[in-house]
Amino acid sequence: MDFKGASILTVDQFDLGDLERIFSTAEVMEDYAFGNKITKVLEGAILANLFFEPSTRSRVSFGCAFNRLGGSVRDTTGFTFSSMSKGESIYDTSRVISGYADIMVVRHPEEGSVAKFTKSTNIPIVNGGDGIGEHPTQALLDLYTIYKETNVTLRSLNNVKISLIGDLKHGRTAHSLAKLLSIFKNIHFKFVSPQELGMPDSIVEMLRAKGHHVQITSDFINGIRGSNILYITRVQDERFPHKNDYKKFKGSYSLTVDKFKKYCNKDTKILHPLPRDSRELKMEIDNNLNNHPNLAIFRQTDNGIPIRMALFALIMGVEDKIYQHVIERSWFRPSLKNKM
Ligand code: NCD
Repeated sequence: MDFKGASILTVDQFDLGDLERIFSTAEVMEDYAFGNKITKVLEGAILANLFFEPSTRSRVSFGCAFNRLGGSVRDTTGFTFSSMSKGESIYDTSRVISGYADIMVVRHPEEGSVAKFTKSTNIPIVNGGDGIGEHPTQALLDLYTIYKETNVTLRSLNNVKISLIGDLKHGRTAHSLAKLLSIFKNIHFKFVSPQELGMPDSIVEMLRAKGHHVQITSDFINGIRGSNILYITRVQDERFPHKNDYKKFKGSYSLTVDKFKKYCNKDTKILHPLPRDSRELKMEIDNNLNNHPNLAIFRQTDNGIPIRMALFALIMGVEDKIYQHVIERSWFRPSLKNKM
């Protein structure tokens, strides 16, 4: 695809060549992402970071990624504090903000809504999550994590065995990741969820039509056995039409140290888009696994910065100009914890 000036709305936009381009750019970004080097290549550019749904890591990491490239960020958080709560349309909001900023990241509770932001503007829009629809940049950083954790070249990611676990019906990160992995060949998917929270049929059918193996199970042990990657997700409380209905599913799939040792391979990596529910009895990943080297969840969140920097650099057309704008770092920063 032509990244320059493009909006990123769905993973369907990418092919293998695009992924190689994003990942090789992300690798260049790593030094800048963690403050070892400083570039000012986006100095003067402004990102409007519009989050109409709760977020911690996506909102902050989009903002930090833009800042790490030298750009400035303006945030809004929550629906109630925006003019949409006064009845303003997506059309108007998008046009207004594009008069202020050079690029927008948008998270919105309705599926398909972020695409509507492109109708009244020419500035690029990046989908930061549209309801139960998609979360394309999360899928990119998830895939980048799988690629780095499995230590293979991107082209040899074929044949990976991955279990996607939890609320696969409402989980947009699971939707985007499954679709993104469909670019490769012969992927072994296990979709592990209570029957009511299964992966949408359209995605299952698409994967089968492309020749991937898809196994669907509600049995957790059967679901985690033999996979290279466990991708655990949260029960999406906020997306249930009847409040409280979600409660019966909370804690139904909890990965403990014992289960991990007994049923998983030595090199199985544990991923989660986060936030994970760490309340007792509802836990998705036992806290005793926190220092386990196969728990990749914090390396995964760290990867959000170089990946989002890479996308911004490609969209703003500066991926080859990073080095021309490097300045010396004058401040101290300790090394990261859990970066095993
Ligand atoms: C996810 C999201 O918002 O879709 N979080 C994220 O962006 N990393 C997952 C979730 O909320 O469960």
